[in-house]
Amino acid sequence: ELGPYRHFMQKEIHEQPRAIADTIEQVIANNGFVPQLFGANAEAVLGDIEGVQILACGTSYYAGLTARYWIEAIAGVPCSVEIASEYRYRTVVANPKHLVVTISQSGETLDTMEALKYAKSLGHDKTLSICNVPESAIPRASALVYYTRAGAEIGVASTKAFTTQLVALFTLTCTLAKLRGRLAQAQEAAYLDDLRQLPGSVQHALNLEPQVQVWSERFAPKQHALFLGRGVHYPIALEGALKLKEISYIHAEAYPAGELKHGPLALVDTEMPVVVIAPNDSLLEKVKSNIQEVRARGGEMFVFADLDSHFGESEQVHVIRTPRHVGVLSPIVHSIPVQLLAYHAALARGTDVDKPRNLAKSVTVE
Ligand code: M6R
Repeated sequence: ELGPYRHFMQKEIHEQPRAIADTIEQVIANNGFVPQLFGANAEAVLGDIEGVQILACGTSYYAGLTARYWIEAIAGVPCSVEIASEYRYRTVVANPKHLVVTISQSGETLDTMEALKYAKSLGHDKTLSICNVPESAIPRASALVYYTRAGAEIGVASTKAFTTQLVALFTLTCTLAKLRGRLAQAQEAAYLDDLRQLPGSVQHALNLEPQVQVWSERFAPKQHALFLGRGVHYPIALEGALKLKEISYIHAEAYPAGELKHGPLALVDTEMPVVVIAPNDSLLEKVKSNIQEVRARGGEMFVFADLDSHFGESEQVHVIRTPRHVGVLSPIVHSIPVQLLAYHAALARGTDVDKPRNLAKSVTVE
């Protein structure tokens, strides 16, 4: 079942080009972002929403955080994202014209299910589930569904589920933008093209594995690590830190790089590796000046960049580049190297990669 791979996690990381291609198949077949992708009556549900409320846990929550940048920037719809286990226990001021989007690989996560039930009890009947397991509890309780087609995910660490959730959320963003008259035909064609090219770009990122493996050997003996990103890549830094803690048991924290001097910079010394997600986007110059501060404190930096983000390499600054900048879908491509880093650091430490201690694949208890 594992084929040439040592673990399900490694196999699932490598399945991502195929999983993404399968998840966008219907979008490509329709040659556009149509509401029917989300269900027969989706146009009525999505047509007049005033906002989006995303609810999820763990990695699925980070997919939601990423989507917020897209939904507000591209669709012009206000979007909040909340951890399901918090939402379900607070007094929420609900606006039933908001679309409630739950994201769950398993479709069985108890907190996410309970948050959905709570939202429905507050009058939210516009509900959409993004889920990887057909006919599981959460999609059954939702008005609309978009199934990611990652295939069974066996490793406890979520990998292909995450990137396919992102693809589904990007599709949702473009559909909302189109319904609101904010997606010109040429832009729609360009986004479709970006999606078509995505499996290839993800494959290019997978080809970086030998370089990431070399880095991971330097990580394996560390106790702590810091992950930095900005904008739409900040949630990818969060996801990278979660992956590293979950399977290698190295303590990792993620911050938006602009927050460094508000506290975490005090942690930086020669023993603290700092991973930076720094593709060539509008925030690159900001990231560069943020990391000068790390450099000045002797921190060793591991930068994931792309071909166009010019970074001076040195003994202290190591850079791995994806072959090109892929624009708006860049957070999906940059998920790959952080997954690989966690996987190889865990391998080097000899942990049980597919079944990390204390964790279950599907969290059906509180
Ligand atoms: O099945 P779900 O997407 O609802 O699961 C949510 C989290 O339990 C899950 O993403 C968890 O954080 C992963 N083990 C992270 O790799």
